[in-house]
Amino acid sequence: MSPLVLVLCLTLPVLLFFFFQYNRAFKNPLLPPGPRGLPIIGNLHQLDNSNLYLQLWQLSKKYGPLFSLQLGLRAAIVVSSPKVAKEALKNHDVVFSGRPKLLGQQKLSYNGIDISFSPYGNYWREIRKLCVVHILSSRRVSSFSSIRHFEVKYMIKKISGHASSSKVTNLNEVLISLTSGIICRTAFGRRYEDEGTERSRFQGLLNECEAMMGVLFVSDYVPFLGWVDKLRGLNTRLEKCFKELDKFSQEVIDEHMDPSRKTTEEEDIIDVLLQIKKERSFSSDLTVENIKAVFMDLLIAATDTTAAATLWIMTELVKHPRVMKEVQEEIRSLAGKKDMVEEDEIQKFPYFKAVIKETMRLHPPVPLLLPRETNEKCIIEGYEIAAKTLVYVNAWAIHRDPETWKDPEEFLPERFLDGTIDFRGQDFELIPFGSGRRSCPGILMAIASLDLILANLLYFFDWELPEGMTKEDIDTEVLPGLAQYKKNPLCVLARSVKCK
Ligand code: HEM
Repeated sequence: MSPLVLVLCLTLPVLLFFFFQYNRAFKNPLLPPGPRGLPIIGNLHQLDNSNLYLQLWQLSKKYGPLFSLQLGLRAAIVVSSPKVAKEALKNHDVVFSGRPKLLGQQKLSYNGIDISFSPYGNYWREIRKLCVVHILSSRRVSSFSSIRHFEVKYMIKKISGHASSSKVTNLNEVLISLTSGIICRTAFGRRYEDEGTERSRFQGLLNECEAMMGVLFVSDYVPFLGWVDKLRGLNTRLEKCFKELDKFSQEVIDEHMDPSRKTTEEEDIIDVLLQIKKERSFSSDLTVENIKAVFMDLLIAATDTTAAATLWIMTELVKHPRVMKEVQEEIRSLAGKKDMVEEDEIQKFPYFKAVIKETMRLHPPVPLLLPRETNEKCIIEGYEIAAKTLVYVNAWAIHRDPETWKDPEEFLPERFLDGTIDFRGQDFELIPFGSGRRSCPGILMAIASLDLILANLLYFFDWELPEGMTKEDIDTEVLPGLAQYKKNPLCVLARSVKCK
């Protein structure tokens, strides 16, 4: 028998088995509607991971607010309206609180012992609670305010330098450097020089982790085609990324355990976690691996999301000079003359707060939230959703739902001035931080940074486009990854303003 015939004989029964399984699934009238795919790979070939939220939004216009996909051997559903989001994330919160085990995310989270990629259960509940109480609480977030203050002041000085020499400011660079500066000091007490090798090692590592968590591994959907990932070099790349990440975290931990280390006034996140380990105040032993996993999780969850949000807000304001002028007038008149706008007074700026909400509506930094997985079978909108179904909640589509939003594509902060809708997860029409048990626990830290950075950028400077450029030239292309970071730099001219 020729080798080809032999291979066919061995693989044909497997292929037929999956083909019939797949067909049966698609003939089930209780499943939500969805596009037809091919045997074995299902709809995988129709989707592009780099702008999945946009493609899923288009598909929702055809198949409705709850539709099915077949991703290889995995069944998936996509939620695209506030009503269905409420049904899933509120009425069936526990069922929808799982996370799928995807190779890149599992590897970089030390097999799901962090918060974000940990399966729903006791461990996740405990580790999340530990972080919410000890690291992400309002008291702890306030204790980091001097770091935010210092870093924002440093940024203002840098931009003032550009302004006085009429040099263009690249806001992509400035904002990623600022947010990673804040998180490095908050998480492990280090401050890197702007263009130093240590900074670029850290930034490179973070970028690679983000990429590896977002990349599509074929083996996650069709396990017996795992060799395709190997051929593409993905497994080697992931292994290398993990080794570097582990080396970096170990260095940080060793440094913190060194008795001769100079300590600063405020404890950083690693200090807090090591203290909990020492006091044995976690239900089981908190290991060095647990600490590394949580540390990596918080670093990645905090940096790109915050930088992306601030950059989208500045992008929208530069594109809408009327709104820019109005928000600047509000901040400048309410804040008066001072060295810096402080965190506590920002609560008094209603138009400013409305601008943040409106931008998060149009540019949710994590448009598909983090993928969920159902823990058990349930019925949603009359459809039967099996256990272990992959769930995408498309915040991008929900934030544009024509039945909820008037002129959904328009940038109109005024729509939030009456203060009835907030983005903390109770109002399902606006969920940039997700909702339910798995919603973002870092929201206080995120808002504290966002508020301070933006209020001061708008207080100290007027912003103009460089000569020859119009607002139509500003695009909204994004870099691939879980968080949507603006791809092409937003380059603008800052003009220092003397406030009265
Ligand atoms: C503008 C900034 C941020 C945005 C837009 C954002 C958004 C999100 C979203 C959409 C999720 C998934 C929620 C879901 O599945 O329902 C999430 C999860 C998470 N975020 Fe954030 N986030 C931000 C900042 C932060 C910060 C500063 C931290 C911590 C320092 C953080 C820590 C986390 C963690 C640990 C999770 C996983 C929660 C779980 O699975 O239980 N995030 N975030």
